[in-house]
Formats: sequence, C-alpha cells, structure tokens
Amino acid sequence: MTTIEHFIGAIPKAELHLYIEGTLEPELKFELAKRNGIDLPYASVGEMREAYDFDDLPSFLAQYYEGMSVLLAEEDFYDLAMAYFTRVAAENVVYVEMFFDPQAHTSRGVEFSTVIEGLHRAQGDAGERFGIRSQLIMCFLRDMSAESAAETLDQAEKYRDWIVGVGLDSDEKGNPPIKFTDVFADARSRGYRLTMHCDVDQEDSVEHIWQCLDVIGVERIDHGVNAIEDEELCREIVRRGLGLTVCPISNAYVTDGTKADLIVGLLERGIKVTVNSDDPAYFPGYIEENLLRLQQEADLDSTTVARLVRNAFEIAWLEPDERSGYLARVDAFIGGD
Ligand code: ADE
Repeated sequence: MTTIEHFIGAIPKAELHLYIEGTLEPELKFELAKRNGIDLPYASVGEMREAYDFDDLPSFLAQYYEGMSVLLAEEDFYDLAMAYFTRVAAENVVYVEMFFDPQAHTSRGVEFSTVIEGLHRAQGDAGERFGIRSQLIMCFLRDMSAESAAETLDQAEKYRDWIVGVGLDSDEKGNPPIKFTDVFADARSRGYRLTMHCDVDQEDSVEHIWQCLDVIGVERIDHGVNAIEDEELCREIVRRGLGLTVCPISNAYVTDGTKADLIVGLLERGIKVTVNSDDPAYFPGYIEENLLRLQQEADLDSTTVARLVRNAFEIAWLEPDERSGYLARVDAFIGGD
C-alpha cells in the first residue's frame, strides 16, 4: 500500500496542455538573457518571481510575452525544451503534446524555422535520453488577426510532419472561436487535429464552447470548465467523446480558485477531463503538482486519479497501437501498485 502522493508521482503520465514557452523558469530566463546580451527588468530571480502576481488572464499574458524576449536562437528553444523534458522525466511523464506560439516569436523578428527546429531537435533528444515521446501543437494568437493566423499556417507547411495539430490561445475577450473559422477549416483540410482554448470565466465562455463544437468542430477543448453551466452542452461533449484539458493551479492564478469542484462535476457527468500544467514556470506546479492539488482539494481517491490519467492517454492524438501501449503501462502500474 502506497501513499496517494507516491501514486501520483509514480504513475506514468501524459501532459496535453503545456506551453513550452510557459516553462521558461526565471533561472533559465536570466541565463538566456546573459547569453543574448539582453537586460531584464528585474534584478534577481526572486524579484522576477514576485512580479508573477496575476489576477486575470491579461495580467499573466503580459508577463508571459515579455519573458519570451530572451528566446532568440535555435539553441535557446532547444535549451528551453530540454530543461522541460529533463524536469518532467523525473515526474514520470512519458508522453507530451506541447503547445508553441509561433506568432509571439515571428512578430519580434525570430524566424518560424528557428523556433521549430530548436524544439524538434530537443524532442528527438528527449525521446532518446528519457524515453519521452512528444508532439507539437501550433497555437494561433486569437488577439491577432485571422490573416496572421493564415500566414502562420502557410509558414508551417514546410514542417507539416512535425506538427500534430493546431490550437487557439491568448486573450479571449472579444476574440471568439468563429473569428478563426476559415483558418481552422484550412488546417483541417491539411490534416491537422483541432483544439481551442475556452479559458475559465471569460465573457461568453459557454457560447464560445458551443462555437468550438458546432462551427469549428474541435476534437477537444483546452480549459472549458464553464461547460458545467449548461447541461445540454455537457451532454453534447460526452456524446462526441471530447476531452477537456483542465489546469487547476493555473485556474487559481487567473480566476478565483482551482475550480476543483467544477472539475469533479465534469468528471461525474462522464466528460473525459484531464489534468495539466499550462504554464508551470508562471503558475508554479508541473503535472504532478497539479494532480496532487486537485486530489487534495477534492479529496480524490486513487481510482479517480487513475481515471484522470487514463483519460489523457485516451484522448491523446496517438495511433491506436501507441495508445493501447500506454494504457497497458498505466494499468500494469495500477495493478502492481
Ligand atoms: N497562452 C499561454 N497560456 C495561456 C492560457 N492559459 N490561456 C490563453 N493563452 C495562453
């Protein structure tokens, strides 16, 4: 018999909602700033962490984009991703689908190729070194134009095989899913899998989730916790087998709490909820800490934790044989624990 803490730490896990740029820890930020001759507006790591005092999505996003100024060369993106993989290998993360935000780099003069080549090289090395398999999801910034998203999709064409899907993120206010109907239809026709953010407690959250289902035709929703306000919407999410990638610690920073009760409510309605870390350098806690926080706040037993972990492999964008391989590993762990 093991403790729940050990169970959460040791179970093989999949991360499906993780910004690689959101893993830029202050220590690495200072190191890259020095390497690239950039002055940061903070004197120390401690001072920088103190400034991470967010109370909503826009206040977080301002820090998040500002922090990226140190990412300039291919090697910077490689080091960023390698630091992440090294860290989560120790948390028994075995599979990752990670977001990246190309427009946040190309808009400041960093080439698309620089970003993706650094990330891709790290993915290969992490596979060899840690046995972590990973795939990239390219996000469009919803507070930029649909034309800019379309240009980004074109830039990605050369790297089509390196990207599994596309997503939508950044400031949701006034930027509904339907602003991007055409570019998502184009992405679908090019074979990308589709997801979108519906951040927590946004203006028109429920309406945005409906648009994701009925207009865009997403395969899953990132966050999407407000679906619980509409029983018909919950039933439709279950009927379509869509997953919700929720992020408890992030919720506590950009809204008024982890939303643990709502997350459990969604799970009870049969929705495939998964627990993830979002931007762990800014909302402190990688996947293990997020699972633990939810477990503690909602007093979950190990069967429910295992269900959350299994859900992630069930909705991951994997081939059937890979999926069953991972699920067998999870089941073998549960059986042997
Ligand atoms: N970009 C990085 N993290 C994000 C989040 N949680 N919501 C929207 N855009 C983001």
